[in-house]
Amino acid sequence: MARSDSHFVCQECGHSALAWSGRCPGCGEWNTLVEAKRSAAPGSRGGGATRSRAAAPRPVSLREVKPPKANRLLTGIAELDRVLGGGLVPGSVVLLGGSPGIGKSTLTGMALGNLSARGAKVLYVSGEESAAQVRLRAERLGDDSLSVPVLAETSVGAVLAALEAERPGVCVIDSVQTLHSEGMTGAPGSVGQVREAAGAITEVGKRLGTAVVLVGHVTKDGSVAGPRVLEHLVDCVLLFDGERERSFRTLRALKNRFGATSEVGVFEMRSGGLVEVEDPSARFVGEASDAPGSCVLCAMEGTRPLLVEVQALVAPTEIVPPRRVATGIDRNRLAMVIAVLARHGGPSLAAADVFVNVAGGVRVDEPGADLAVALALASAHRGRTLAGPDGRPLACFGEVGLTGELRFVAHPERRVAEALKFGLRPVAGPEAGERIDGMAAHRTLRSALGATAAAPRQAVQAA
Ligand code: TYD
Ligand code: MG
Repeated sequence: MARSDSHFVCQECGHSALAWSGRCPGCGEWNTLVEAKRSAAPGSRGGGATRSRAAAPRPVSLREVKPPKANRLLTGIAELDRVLGGGLVPGSVVLLGGSPGIGKSTLTGMALGNLSARGAKVLYVSGEESAAQVRLRAERLGDDSLSVPVLAETSVGAVLAALEAERPGVCVIDSVQTLHSEGMTGAPGSVGQVREAAGAITEVGKRLGTAVVLVGHVTKDGSVAGPRVLEHLVDCVLLFDGERERSFRTLRALKNRFGATSEVGVFEMRSGGLVEVEDPSARFVGEASDAPGSCVLCAMEGTRPLLVEVQALVAPTEIVPPRRVATGIDRNRLAMVIAVLARHGGPSLAAADVFVNVAGGVRVDEPGADLAVALALASAHRGRTLAGPDGRPLACFGEVGLTGELRFVAHPERRVAEALKFGLRPVAGPEAGERIDGMAAHRTLRSALGATAAAPRQAVQAA
């Protein structure tokens, strides 16, 4: 009997197994194995054999490798260019992930419009929407976007042919999950299809020097749907994030072969498309209140300081265990801060539901947020505002250690300078090597608590 050509592929990690099992042997996830069939199309097995017979390739010394031309393609969207590390690199592949409705098509449509206005050859491949629908969006984005050539196509073969014929400088595939390859069975969006499609397009893009932007959906937990192998394949993974109901969007690089991964771009969705928010701190500080449970965190987003409002609510409860809800910060760090508060000079929140939120839908993933969370919680618990006598919110930053000490975090002077720009002083934070003007340094959480929430307002002023 002929050997079956079917195998089972994990939708999470791309692991391939001959038999189905409830748990993927590769990544340990449950219920992720899906049957995939490879049809015996010419080229599937034969292609591999031809390749193995080809002459052995010669490794080249790095000195002989031609350095890539540094002519990056500027998308004209400054925040996007910054996150990319200074624009698109010709021949590179960028994966742009984000949940539906977040604005991926809008962002890429605007970028292509700008590029085309600057004389670059572009191509927008839409697998999700018809050309008419793409036009409707472009009408909202302005004249430049209307000049972008669009191809409503879901067949990989056709897309590849169009790439070869048109040879665009930049091509957007919206989205990679809608593409299907004729040589593969399996629904579009399945691991095999996505991997095959992305692989083929990457290869052609690299050969033609086309910068390819693959738009991809993300799953509930924030990873790009489809195989993780896709993240290895591409040069750059960008995540477009934010809450759909709110207008703020953040764009960050999870991986970037041509730049730093720490940069973050902030956008706002308006009626005419996405608008870059050049001074996000101003927006977030403007929204901060002098209510109990609110303070301003001096965070660092990459190389840029960013002020965000941290809000806490403490509500007595009889539920055991009480609820701990964190939006925008890490849940485990919240649990840690609650525990340290109880032991080192703060309130015990064992019988209270705790909610902590970073306002504006921003995510802050750094230990430097601990102090802001601790102070906001203490303030919410006591019902006493952290704001100064002038009503300006308290600004702070710092990592809280398990023994109640305040720990140094990177770039204290930049964080303080950003807060001073908005007249927030003094900034509570950990002791740095040297004295920083406008900063009230504390060695312990207890001392920071004493100087702010617990003490009368004069103490804040005096510090
Ligand atoms: P879209 O870019 O289609 O999202 P995605 O491709 O990530 O699924 O747009 C998302 C939302 O943005 C959509 O609900 C409509 C809204 N929007 C605006 O508010 N203003 C605009 O100018 C445009 C084009 C869209
Ligand atoms: Mg879209």
